Amino acid sequence: MKVVIVDDSPTNLRVYLAIVAQIAGADTTTFTSSVEALAYCGTTEPDLLILDYRMPALDGLAFIAEFRATYPHAETPIIMITVEQDRDVRHRALQLGASDFLLKPADPVEFLVRVRNLLALRQSRVALCDRAESLAAEVERATREVIEREEETIYRLMRAAEFRDNETGNHIVRMAKYAALLSAELGMSAAEQRMLLLATPMHDIGKLSTPDIILLKPGPLTAEEWVIMRQHTTAGHSMLEGSTSRILQLAAEIALRHHERWDGSGYPGGLSGEQISISARIAGLCDVFDALLSVRPYKQAWSTDKAFAEVERSIGGHFDPAVARAFLGARESVLAIERQFRDEQAA
Ligand SMILES: [Fe+2]
Ligand SMILES: [Fe+2]
Repeated sequence: MKVVIVDDSPTNLRVYLAIVAQIAGADTTTFTSSVEALAYCGTTEPDLLILDYRMPALDGLAFIAEFRATYPHAETPIIMITVEQDRDVRHRALQLGASDFLLKPADPVEFLVRVRNLLALRQSRVALCDRAESLAAEVERATREVIEREEETIYRLMRAAEFRDNETGNHIVRMAKYAALLSAELGMSAAEQRMLLLATPMHDIGKLSTPDIILLKPGPLTAEEWVIMRQHTTAGHSMLEGSTSRILQLAAEIALRHHERWDGSGYPGGLSGEQISISARIAGLCDVFDALLSVRPYKQAWSTDKAFAEVERSIGGHFDPAVARAFLGARESVLAIERQFRDEQAA
């Protein structure tokens, strides 16, 4: 433990040093200049400061004030040495942050016990701090691991789903990026943006249950086939629901509701307006926008201008006006995502 003793009298310093030397593990540095001692504290944090009150240039009180102000988080204990009649000085020292006092001339027994007690207290406080820090680091590491595993599981689930979906390429990547961007534009928190980024790629996971003959059909679907196709929403919901993971809960909601429409003409519930969760309204728009820009077995890729015009045309119809306007307002950022994650085969 680092002990710093400051007294302008070399004789006093020798007496104090001899007393502190009896404490095992005490590493003592002495100063006759309080100014030099303060400068030293800037590079070496003491575990205990022992200060004389009467010193030239910077007295004990000024030293404490300066020390506590310069190192506001230092909880270093400070003992000040005063003479009997300095009651006012002692009160002021207490207000400034002194921990204890010793009277001059020093009583070696009392001096030794006080110093030993304060050092023991300091030692346990430091140990407690270290323990708290290492526990916090441990919790952070474990939390990060859980998050990484959750993200990896989602990623692998999506890889599995991709094996049989015709919406290949970067569709789900772009859609997730658009959704995160849009949630930011709408003022949602960073945590909510991240949730959407991870949950939206699972919107069509229910297509795992759609027969290939419908899923991969090159031409338009018949009315009966559409009934089955639409079931990918409820199927996706039952695949994802019931989890304690908030991402999977959100993904289940998006899977179920991403084909609902603001005007109530969507499926599977025919919900309208704010009956549809904001996440599903966001995901639904991003899904459609990206599908418009992509080649499908039944259609060519649309130009971005045409796709934006379609979003504008669908305000209040297919899309929530607030969500659609935020999307149109973020046009440049949308285009940047589109360029960055464009599929090679896309026109
Ligand atoms: Fe879908
Ligand atoms: Fe999709």
